[in-house]
Amino acid sequence: MPITSDDIVIRISDGRRSDIDALAGLEQLCFSVPWSWEAIAGEITKNPSSRFYLAEAEGDIVGCVSCWLLPPYECQIGNVAVAPGYRRRGIATRLMGAVIRDTEALGIMDMTLEVRASNLAAQALYAGLGFESEGIRKGYYQGKEDAVIMWRREKLAERKPL
Ligand SMILES: CC(C)(COP(=O)(O)OP(=O)(O)OC[C@H]1O[C@@H](n2cnc3c(N)ncnc32)[C@H](O)[C@@H]1OP(=O)(O)O)[C@@H](O)C(=O)NCCC(=O)NCCS
Repeated sequence: MPITSDDIVIRISDGRRSDIDALAGLEQLCFSVPWSWEAIAGEITKNPSSRFYLAEAEGDIVGCVSCWLLPPYECQIGNVAVAPGYRRRGIATRLMGAVIRDTEALGIMDMTLEVRASNLAAQALYAGLGFESEGIRKGYYQGKEDAVIMWRREKLAERKPL
């Protein structure tokens, strides 16, 4: 039987050491400049702000959003990746939805991320989730490509006093 979106389980964790190999493999599949095994291990073992949102199909990690939760102000999205065979099934949307729910529960007001100027697919994903472009960081990617800086901001009128 083919795996459907309903078969994808979303797991939220601070990251487990046992996930590092699979996450490094997903990076290799999804990015021209992937995070190294060591960088992922550092996030999982040494960064208390780091949180991983993982999509699993039959026990395999097929999608990931990593972020830093920095209450009360900000959630910085690190990487968003879905394995090629699992794309356009709403997995990234579900993972980002879980991040948004957690940030709202923690009272975090704003979320931000950088995305390659050429990555229109990811920009469409983020725009659909309420992110807006607020600027360009020139040559952010190895001096060769600009980053679009996107923010998803809680409306000022809804902000609670600190
Ligand atoms: C970008 C990425 C994370 C999207 O994951 P996904 O699970 O396929 O995304 P979803 O199915 O939730 O798509 C949600 C929306 O994003 C947009 N989108 C996603 N992929 C798209 C594509 N290839 N082309 C155009 N729009 C796209 C669409 O608006 C889509 O809604 P729709 O399917 O109803 O049209 C995935 O393609 C990926 O891992 N790419 C390589 C790594 C990457 O670029 N990560 C982002 C770095 S900032």
